[in-house]
Amino acid sequence: MWGGRFAAGPASIMREINASIPFDKRLWKQDIAGSKAHVAMLARQGIVDQADADAISGGLDTIAAEYEAHGVPVNLDLEDIHMVTESRLAELIGPAAGRLHTARSRNDQVATDFRLWVRDAIDDVEAGLAGLQRALVARAQDHADAVMPGFTHLQSAQPVTLGHHLMAYYEMVRRDRSRFSDARARLNECPLGAAALAGTGFPTDRHMTAAALGFARPTDNSLDSVSDRDFALDYLMAATQAALHLSRLAEEFIIWASQPFGFVKLPDAYSTGSSIMPQKRNPDAAELVRGHAGRIMGCMTALCVTMKGLPLAYSKDMQDDKPPVFEAHDLLALSIAAMTGMVETVTFRTDRMRALAESGFATATDLADWLVREGGIPFREAHHITGRAVAAAEQAGVPLDQLPLDTLKAIDARIDDRVYAVLTVDASVASRRSHGGTAPDQVRARIAQAKEELG
Ligand code: ARG
Repeated sequence: MWGGRFAAGPASIMREINASIPFDKRLWKQDIAGSKAHVAMLARQGIVDQADADAISGGLDTIAAEYEAHGVPVNLDLEDIHMVTESRLAELIGPAAGRLHTARSRNDQVATDFRLWVRDAIDDVEAGLAGLQRALVARAQDHADAVMPGFTHLQSAQPVTLGHHLMAYYEMVRRDRSRFSDARARLNECPLGAAALAGTGFPTDRHMTAAALGFARPTDNSLDSVSDRDFALDYLMAATQAALHLSRLAEEFIIWASQPFGFVKLPDAYSTGSSIMPQKRNPDAAELVRGHAGRIMGCMTALCVTMKGLPLAYSKDMQDDKPPVFEAHDLLALSIAAMTGMVETVTFRTDRMRALAESGFATATDLADWLVREGGIPFREAHHITGRAVAAAEQAGVPLDQLPLDTLKAIDARIDDRVYAVLTVDASVASRRSHGGTAPDQVRARIAQAKEELG
């Protein structure tokens, strides 16, 4: 493509280090769409005559059909998807193919293709996350009043409901989706027509190509257009945050599936056995989601480091922008699908959850709150009295609500038998009716809203 200036061909190692076709072939659909929009504009502006433009456009359709049927041929000599396609076009339609690259450069071409690809990736992820939200809401609705221990420091803290716990992930995923849609809105400006870096002397219409490709508008600075990849980093940062959330849910499933917890039975479809221990049922899918989060974050770090300190405008370092985005996207799409499948099909052992909620003195705060409310006792003092009650229950080996009234009265005479009404786990969750609290009616109200949000 630059044979005019060069006397010798590239060393084979140069060919190898230079080529991006092994990975950027994934951009072929976007590359053809960009070229078709570009040539239609060139024809309308009278830069290329209509007959040539028609031949180019028809040739690009033929190439798309070939790629669809047989894949993109990986020819390292042709370097990248842009040149592989252009050279095939020349084979198909002859010298008119050479007019396609008028008033553009691979610099604005690749920036456009990549934005289009990331935009599709965002739409993909958003649809996947919406599916995960639906699964969470459905399971939360079934278990809106199933009591389980709520934890802090992974120590039994206060009873919550399983529905409430699942809806916590709904909220995380809701924010993840908003990060992706913010990224999409910022990304949606078209760099095509910025050319190599300075714009072009041809009378192009960048608004026309932007509109044809579904962008909101053309970008406003040609240097910026070809030299930033912040849109890819926005994607990777949103992907990292989403993956971190997924890894926490995955981790909870792993802990909950362990025998000492026994809160869930993971479905066969998302577990594996052991080749040596017949009793094993390993939560491999959840473990891999937990692991993938690290790799996704690694992809984000890789592109940050690639971009750090690069002078304007295009530098070849930026060719390395694509592998981490492709890798992160594949890992994230798999992770979302796996977690959605697990949420949909996991068996919750609500009897076991309830038993543990009842055994961990999880209603101690309810006793302290009762002393404040009914006895007018300052919270700090109530906390101290309750601590003594917990110690007594522990010593007697019974839950708080089975301590005899005499024992409680011996600890503090202001306690009377009305206290038992607040010491059960059901009373405890039902009382937490503050906005966003774990009371089943609060949880159900949020579930109803969430269903509306999901449409
Ligand atoms: N394959 C290149 C990339 O992905 C396309 C742009 C090449 N531009 C250039 N000036 N060599 O970045």
